[in-house]
Order: sequence, then C-alpha cells, then structure tokens
Amino acid sequence: MKKPISIRIFFLILIIVGISALHYTTPLHLHYLHDIFQRLYYLPIILSAIWYGLRGGLACSLIVSLLYAPHILFQWGGHLTLEMEKYLEIVLYNVVGGITGLLSQRERERSVQLQKTADGLEQSYRKLQEQSEQLITVEKNLRNAERLSTLGEMAAVLAHEIRNPLGSIRGTAEILRDDFPPDSPKYEFIDIQIRETERLNRVVEDFLRMSKPQVMEKISCDIINELQTVISLVADDAAQRHITVKFNAPDTLPLFIGDGEKLRQAFLNIVINALQATPSGGRVTITVDASTSSLEVSFIDSGSGIAPEDALHIFEPFYTTKIEGTGLGLPITKKIIEGHGGTIQLDCLDGNGTAVNIILPLNHV
Ligand SMILES: Nc1ncnc2c1ncn2[C@@H]1O[C@H](COP(=O)(O)OP(=O)(O)OP(=O)(O)O)[C@@H](O)[C@H]1O
Ligand SMILES: [Mg+2]
Repeated sequence: MKKPISIRIFFLILIIVGISALHYTTPLHLHYLHDIFQRLYYLPIILSAIWYGLRGGLACSLIVSLLYAPHILFQWGGHLTLEMEKYLEIVLYNVVGGITGLLSQRERERSVQLQKTADGLEQSYRKLQEQSEQLITVEKNLRNAERLSTLGEMAAVLAHEIRNPLGSIRGTAEILRDDFPPDSPKYEFIDIQIRETERLNRVVEDFLRMSKPQVMEKISCDIINELQTVISLVADDAAQRHITVKFNAPDTLPLFIGDGEKLRQAFLNIVINALQATPSGGRVTITVDASTSSLEVSFIDSGSGIAPEDALHIFEPFYTTKIEGTGLGLPITKKIIEGHGGTIQLDCLDGNGTAVNIILPLNHV
C-alpha cells in the first residue's frame, strides 16, 4: 500500500521540478514555449487532486504557485501585461486544484458509500440464503413429523388388525408343516409361508417402533460389546454372501451412558444395509474411535454406494430402493442416534461403497 503512494508523489515532484526547470532555463524570447510550460503545470495539479482529493489538489497548486511566482517576479519583471496574465494563471492553478480535488474527493466518498451498501447487501443476501436453507430443513422435518404422526395412528390400527391373524397363520402353518417330510415340496411351501409371516410381523414391529416416542434407557453401556453382538448376529448372513466383516476397536472406550439395546438395533440396521449393498467378495469395516468428547463409529462397505438422488431421501420414512425393503431402517436409526444427542451421516465413496459415520457425544444425559 505504501509503495504506490511514494511512487505517485515521486512522479509528481519529478514533473513539477521538470516543468519549473524548463521555465527557469528557457530564454524569455521563446515566449510561446513559456505559454506551453505554463499550461503543463495543470498536469501534476489535476493528477494530485485525483489521487489525493481536495488537500492533494490544493497542496500541489500551492507548491506550483510558489515555484512559479519567483520566475514571474524576477525573470519577467517589467512586462506588466504579461505578468498579469501569469499571476492570473496562478489563481487558476489554485481554483483548478481546489475544484478537481473536491470533485474527486466526493467521488471517492461516494464509491466508499456504494461499496459499503454493496457489502451490506451481500451480507443480507447471505443471511437470507442461510435462513431459506434453515426453512427448507424445518419444512423437511415437519413433513417427516407429519408422516410419522399419520404413521403412529396407522401403526396402532395395523398392529392390532394384523398381528393377531398373523400369529394364527404362523401357528397353523407350523402345525401343517409337521405333517410333511422336510424334503417334500409342500414342506418347503409352508416354510416360505412361515418366513413371509415372520417378515410381515417384523414390518409391523418396525411401524410400531417408529411411531412410538423412543424411551431411551440411560445406563452405562458397552459400545464395543454391542457392536460385537451385531457382528455375531449377521455372521451367518455375511458368510452366505461371502462378505468379510472387519472390526477395529481400541481395547477400552470411555464410559458411555445410553440405551445399549436401542444402539444395537441402530448398528444392526446399518450393518444389514451394508451387507445388502455389498456384492459377493466384498468387505464391511466397522471402526470405533474415541476422542475426549465423543465416540465415533464408522461403517464402511465396498458396495454400490448411494445415488445422489437417493441420498436426499434415505432418512425419510418409507424411502427404499429395495423390492422387499420398508424404508424404515435408517429413519429408526437416526431417531435412536439423535435420541443420544448424536449425529449420523452417510457418504458415498465415489462408486466404491458407502461410509456411515456416527458421532455420539460422551456428555449427553
Ligand atoms: N450401505 C448402503 N449402501 C447403499 N445404499 C444404502 C446403504 N444404506 C442405505 N442405503 C439406501 O438407503 C435406503 C433406505 O435405507 P433403509 O435402511 O431406511 O431402508 P431399506 O434398507 O430400504 O429397508 P429396511 O431397512 O426396512 O429393510 C435403502 O433402500 C438404500 O437405497
Ligand atoms: Mg435397511
């Protein structure tokens, strides 16, 4: 910043000294040259006024006047009419320096004001943008809450109307199955019937879990132990799919207060999703880490990843891309994690799978 100022001043001094030297050294009979040099003084005066405003303009015209006056007085003395014209020029130097300086100063003040207004506008625009983003999130949450409240009413009716007949279907199917040898096709059909009834039952239970307010138990829970249980629960499924499940955890973790059973259910939902998305030969890696204030659990799979258009909706109840999915796994999981004051985030790893990151604060009660 300092450099351009000193260069400008140096430039002005150079021009003024140069013009003055021309005045003092050019013989007086070349008066037409003196007329030109006289006008050349306007150049530094105007430049100084533009660069440094009113003060700059006046200071420069004053210096020019002081340098030029002795030249008139001592070299031109005796030519009264010529002298008068030149004294008048000195007055004009000061008028031009003052007016140009004033105008440029006003212009500069106006552009500062404009810049301030533009900054203010930009700030307001940014605030507006933040607020509209917040509004969109609130609206999305409201839409989900609305769905959930409808879901709550539906779930109560469904649970009542479906669960009991399902129990009877399952019971009678089991009795019927015993009438056939395991290698009979009818045994297999009835087995399918039983499995499907179990699935329906699970769907109803998911509905109920989703709609009921989650009552979290707040006792000390062992996250490593819960994750190990989840891994043993999915071990058969993973083996059938030829998927390796890897677990990285420190020997001990800080004490975590929360609902172990609910967290286990949340972890199970994520691991099942990971297994369902991962092709044969793939891998699911579960990692636990602790910082001073939180626990971080990540699940990384080598599956298909999530398409951007799906990523926007995966936490919405009933959003599923699977033929047999209910779309309730992730909303339930999110509810459980947020019930512990935590956060959950799903990131697509550029077509090389999905990373689910959960952060659970240690001081949440
Ligand atoms: N690890 C993952 N890899 C790829 N896609 C995933 C993964 N986890 C979730 N998804 C996507 O998110 C959607 C919603 O998952 P969510 O668990 O809520 O329901 P779902 O798995 O489809 O059904 P449900 O859990 O009831 O069986 C899935 O249908 C899938 O498209
Ligand atoms: Mg799921």
